[in-house]
Amino acid sequence: MSILKIVKMGDPLLAAIAKPVADLDDELLQQISDMIATMRFYQGVGLAAPQVALLRQIVVLEVAQNERYPQADSIELDVLINPKILDYSEQKNRAWEGCLSIPGLRGQIERSSSISYQAMNRQGKLVTKTVHDFHARIIQHEVDHLNGILYPQRLDERHEFGFEDSLPAFKSG
Ligand code: NI
Repeated sequence: MSILKIVKMGDPLLAAIAKPVADLDDELLQQISDMIATMRFYQGVGLAAPQVALLRQIVVLEVAQNERYPQADSIELDVLINPKILDYSEQKNRAWEGCLSIPGLRGQIERSSSISYQAMNRQGKLVTKTVHDFHARIIQHEVDHLNGILYPQRLDERHEFGFEDSLPAFKSG
């Protein structure tokens, strides 16, 4: 497994639209393993393929004792291939988001509290799930990456965006 280089905000790769995966071949499975290793290495809770310069519709996510999100409940490792969000709850909530492509910064973003989605897993099986709160937030953030959207584009309060060591509201939790 290799730790991949993370593409940073400003790179046009992060504004591109990722292509669907048609065939889960060995090379792609290896790239998925590398994405998981990279997410863990950088203490991410999710990673989308364009962030490692791979323009394919692949997302990995996992929450386990994370220093960057210490209050978050655990979420088992998951791989979402060609994810589609089928339904967004009308109920929304706001929370601080970060992104491995925008290191050191945080922004408070409104997202749907629950979503239903469909995706293929690493075994090629189509899975439909409904998830809530932080889990729903991660998937909305990562699916945005597949559509070339970064969270600062969703900011509605410009003062709620800045460096995590400088934002009073972020530091106070
Ligand atoms: Ni991100």
